[in-house]
Amino acid sequence: MQKITIAIDGFSSTGKSTVAKQLAKSLGYVYVDSGAMYRAVTLFAMQNGFIETGCFDKDGLISQLDHIKISFKFNKDLGFAEVYLNEKNVEKDIRSLEVSNFVSPVATISEVREQLVKQQQNFGKDKGVVMDGRDIGTVVFPDAELKLFMTASAEKRAKRRYDELIERGDDVSYDDVLKNVQTRDHIDSTREDSPLTMAEDAIKVDNSSMNLKEQFEFVLKLSEDKIKSI
Ligand code: DC
Repeated sequence: MQKITIAIDGFSSTGKSTVAKQLAKSLGYVYVDSGAMYRAVTLFAMQNGFIETGCFDKDGLISQLDHIKISFKFNKDLGFAEVYLNEKNVEKDIRSLEVSNFVSPVATISEVREQLVKQQQNFGKDKGVVMDGRDIGTVVFPDAELKLFMTASAEKRAKRRYDELIERGDDVSYDDVLKNVQTRDHIDSTREDSPLTMAEDAIKVDNSSMNLKEQFEFVLKLSEDKIKSI
């Protein structure tokens, strides 16, 4: 069976990664969470003093980019690949609200994008990949056979992210999470380099009123139809 590339883009907390993971599993494809890579660079910047309250040393971070090694290792128990920063598992650390608050500014830096995009293209060079992010269908894989663009209201997305953070034991307020979602939407869609936009040939999936099962079935059918048509 011919393998394809599936690009899933959209605003933060639209459930892209949940559906991308399910899709990759049922098609036997590799899943790559490109947002995790921007988060890992942000964590590196925080751990190495390039981001401190009120101060962001972009040039310092750029000068260290060659020392940032990001990799994914499949965790059999979880059923997906976790992200490693310089050989250390940072899957949990990169999901904190603190990293979320700094990741969008880090993702505006062209040098960071250039490096990560190259790596993402390499992960997908043999097809059979589901990758989610903001610029996958527009910049990373403009020739992807299937492009999805996920949307949902900011309030719905903030509630989902808030529930996730509370479940893992973080002490956050819904209002702070909503503010983070809205700020990231703004930065991600107005930045100069590779802003979040829907590719012309993408299919829009508004999941505000779909449950996870409905969403997955809808997206799986689109994927299977596309694979059959090739
Ligand atoms: O998908 P996420 O929320 O984990 O992504 C974190 C941030 O990384 C997001 O605010 C924007 C940035 N990002 C990006 O600029 N390009 C991508 N392909 C993926 C994420």
